[in-house]
Amino acid sequence: MTYRIAPSILSADFARLGEEVKNVIAAGSDWIHFDVMDNHYVPNLTFGPMICSALKPHAKTAAGVAVPIDVHLMISPVDALAASFAEAGADYISFHPDASGHVHRSIQAIKSKGVKAGLVFNPAEPLDVLDWVIEDIDLILIMSVNPGFGGQSFIDSALRKIEDVRKRIDASGKDIRLEVDGGIKTDNIRRVADAGADTFVAGSAIFGKPDYKGVIDAMRLALTA
Ligand code: DX5
Ligand code: ZN
Repeated sequence: MTYRIAPSILSADFARLGEEVKNVIAAGSDWIHFDVMDNHYVPNLTFGPMICSALKPHAKTAAGVAVPIDVHLMISPVDALAASFAEAGADYISFHPDASGHVHRSIQAIKSKGVKAGLVFNPAEPLDVLDWVIEDIDLILIMSVNPGFGGQSFIDSALRKIEDVRKRIDASGKDIRLEVDGGIKTDNIRRVADAGADTFVAGSAIFGKPDYKGVIDAMRLALTA
């Protein structure tokens, strides 16, 4: 199993965002998680496509290898801004099915731009839509907090949902990332991996500490131990 750690820049210092992206990549990030909030779908407001395109040149390792930008849209409607994020250099674009009137169309619109598409499920949201679109997506993101804010506590029922999604992915035979977002720390990441996740968003756990590499290394150690 290849595990990926995706630091959420929601908890970074917004006054030094480019430097924060560089530093967290130097500390070993596999992806950069980019939380887009619209004060409508969620009660908070963050950043848009212009910030994404400004950060894109910084999303690479010292050796020049591109680090994927994982855009998590907490917005409604979805399609127009998803297209702008595709233009802005997003590598993955995920949206909440309840935020789009036409989920299949939104997925196709993202993929038509050459970007990988994902669906995000809130803690109390069922997975039924996957019965109809799992063949079309590249990523499933399970929320283990209610979306809108960093620094919340992990909701345990997410573990059961992750197990369910893992079975669906394995049955599909497709190469689909299973990502989890919210309340991931060094001391619970292993439980989340054991439930079947392969990609881990962590905001406050990483940016809340001075030593980003120390946290990412401890997470990887927990995953391999
Ligand atoms: C919440 C966001 C998360 C958030 C996670 O709506 O989707 O990505 O940054 O933050 P932590 O890791 O602090 O729970
Ligand atoms: Zn997120």
